[in-house]
Amino acid sequence: MAPIISIQNLTKTYSNGFQALKGVDLDVERGEILALLGPNGAGKTTMISIVCGITNPSGGKVTVGGHDVVKDFRATRSMIGLVPQELTTDQFETVWNTVSFSRGLHGKKPNPAHIERVLRDLSLWEKKDNTLRQLSGGMKRRVLIAKALSHEPEILFLDEPTAGVDVTLRKDMWHVVERLRASGVTIILTTHYIEEAEEIADRVGVINGGRLLLVEEKKTLMAKLGRKQLILDLTETLDAVPHRLDGNGLSLGPGGTTLIYDFDAEHEQSSIATLLSRLSEEGIHFKDLSTRQSSLEDIFVSLVGEDK
Ligand SMILES: Nc1ncnc2c1ncn2[C@@H]1O[C@H](COP(=O)(O)OP(=O)(O)OP(=O)(O)O)[C@@H](O)[C@H]1O
Ligand SMILES: [Mg+2]
Repeated sequence: MAPIISIQNLTKTYSNGFQALKGVDLDVERGEILALLGPNGAGKTTMISIVCGITNPSGGKVTVGGHDVVKDFRATRSMIGLVPQELTTDQFETVWNTVSFSRGLHGKKPNPAHIERVLRDLSLWEKKDNTLRQLSGGMKRRVLIAKALSHEPEILFLDEPTAGVDVTLRKDMWHVVERLRASGVTIILTTHYIEEAEEIADRVGVINGGRLLLVEEKKTLMAKLGRKQLILDLTETLDAVPHRLDGNGLSLGPGGTTLIYDFDAEHEQSSIATLLSRLSEEGIHFKDLSTRQSSLEDIFVSLVGEDK
């Protein structure tokens, strides 16, 4: 099936000459959850703004549902819901009106039952008659999400939706995301909370300095780049890794009380058995052993670090 979003050689140079995107290629499949990770200033919001038709690209081509985002702005925009990173909403309007008007702006007929469902899902129903200035910061964020969902979009962009929100809202939000995914909505989110991406994304993209460093199925990424460590708690401290065991991915932990074995998560079994028998030949004994798998965070830090 054709991708729902197709980005080809996208570049963006802002009017002050700063190049925020340096040739990004990305296809997003219908119904997937894609997490975009990247440090501050990587270009995430710039890329999202271009797909949503808020910012003009300098070069390249972006289509949404087969329509060009520049030439066919109306068609593409109505397919998209955007939860922006910054709060930008009329403070004197009520929650109900804000969300209902937003639906109208996208050219959809009124549907109070849908608006009610969205507000209830986001625990905003009690506040529907409050004006926005009467809400807390986290509640205003919920209103942004409700607005983005008001016109039943096929694609939802969440630009750091959980920055500065409490645990309850995060949970509410991920429930909403799960439900949307189940109904076939395509979701692209940016986050600095890598564990969130690890939990809910199907694919992960890493962006840094205006370039997409990689896009990969989360499982493949973790298997490919993920390292495992076997940590042996020694009965006697060692000064150094014994000579005959050098160069096999072994290192000593602090104080010489642990021996750490770095190995490839995919070809682990036989090498561990060999290692353990060689240790016993060397007279090295341990009282406990544990393993540790590198997280998406470790992978991210090493990728972005290398790119500097
Ligand atoms: N209007 C603008 N004019 C000039 N430069 C801009 C403009 N908007 C963004 N930039 C620059 O483009 C780069 C990318 O910004 P962008 O907002 O896309 O980053 P981001 O990945 O969303 O970062 P964050 O995680 O902090 O939200 C930054 O260096 C930023 O300073
Ligand atoms: Mg941003």
